[in-house]
Amino acid sequence: MKVRVSAMLLGAALLCMTAAVAQPSYEGRRKCSSCHRSEFESWEKSGHARALETLAPKVKSEAKKKAGLNPDKDYRQDGDCVGCHTTGWGREGGYDPKDPGKYLVGVGCESCHGPGSEYRLLHRKAGQAFEKKKQTTARERLVEAGQEFQFEERCASCHLNYEGSPWKGAKKPYTPFTPRLDRKYTFDFARAVRDDKAIHEHFKLEGVFTGPPVPSFHEEFQSRAKPAAKGSEE
Ligand code: HEC
Ligand code: HEC
Ligand code: HEC
Ligand code: HEC
Repeated sequence: MKVRVSAMLLGAALLCMTAAVAQPSYEGRRKCSSCHRSEFESWEKSGHARALETLAPKVKSEAKKKAGLNPDKDYRQDGDCVGCHTTGWGREGGYDPKDPGKYLVGVGCESCHGPGSEYRLLHRKAGQAFEKKKQTTARERLVEAGQEFQFEERCASCHLNYEGSPWKGAKKPYTPFTPRLDRKYTFDFARAVRDDKAIHEHFKLEGVFTGPPVPSFHEEFQSRAKPAAKGSEE
């Protein structure tokens, strides 16, 4: 009997613990750009930022015709398309065609860095601890809060999502733009991730976060990074 009771208590305690860890949700780029203005201004000029406009009628008509799509059709609410042309579609807090929040339009910050509701709070705290006491924070804690460091997987979920893809996770809806249609749609991660015009330019970090995980290209990007303009918080 005693054993049963303590097992029940343990179960209840575990339930409380899991409930205490909030599931990260999508919030939109406004939450990021208030602090990371430099990356935001660079990203804003990218094709990722304009990805939803690509689905409007008469935009990129030649490419659409080549893929057997109707260039006069409005695909901006089409469930077969918006998942890869917006941020967090179908996920908690993500893009909803019926209530299109403008900060989730296009392939935004959280499409690559992960849903930000939890880790952005850590960025703030860690930034303050560093400024006041030169105290650093382990990147592991960002991973626990839902921040993404497996960039290759994130890119693959859109760029390599088609039938016969080398990527194992492929499932419908697929991208119409595949290497079979034209070799220029072949996705080479090592090259694509270095395309600052497609991603965003890189800016110097002060070293607030330390330790693994560190992407293989991190040092390279930081070695050529520019000084960041300090964003003002709203
Ligand atoms: C309150 C300000 C603030 C907000 C909001 C914020 N960040 Fe940060 N972020 C920081 C600070 C401070 C750092 C540490 C910078 C340094 O080391 O110089 C950081 C670091 C980062 C890093 C680098 C992490 C590493 O590997 O060292 C990324 C990527 C990042 N932020 C993305 C985001 C994204 C995406 C969002 C929105 C979901 C966001 N941030 C929201 C302040 C913020
Ligand atoms: C949510 C889906 C999504 C994610 C995640 C994503 N992309 Fe994209 N990417 C797109 C779409 C859609 C376009 C086309 C944008 C347009 O022009 O409308 C694009 C365009 C690009 C282009 C330009 C293509 C060209 O012809 O020059 C590059 C390069 C690129 N992405 C690289 C990446 C890399 C690297 C990653 C991961 C770090 C990534 N993308 C993550 C959807 C995504
Ligand atoms: C699985 C993700 C995914 C889905 C679903 C998807 N796309 Fe895209 N789309 C992409 C990516 C990735 C690119 C960038 C391809 C590149 O340039 O290498 C892209 C690029 C495009 C382009 C620009 C092509 C060019 O050559 O400039 C158009 C137009 C487009 N998509 C329309 C659509 C339409 C319409 C649908 C729905 C019928 C759709 N997409 C569904 C991922 C997707
Ligand atoms: C297509 C994918 C993609 C998108 C979209 C994206 N990032 Fe990044 N971001 C990256 C990659 C890859 C790195 C390099 C990570 C590293 O060096 O560890 C990076 C690095 C960063 C860093 C670290 C400092 C630097 O400049 O390298 C910050 C801060 C950051 N991103 C913020 C943002 C914000 C804010 C947005 C939205 C306005 C955004 N990112 C959109 C892929 C993306």
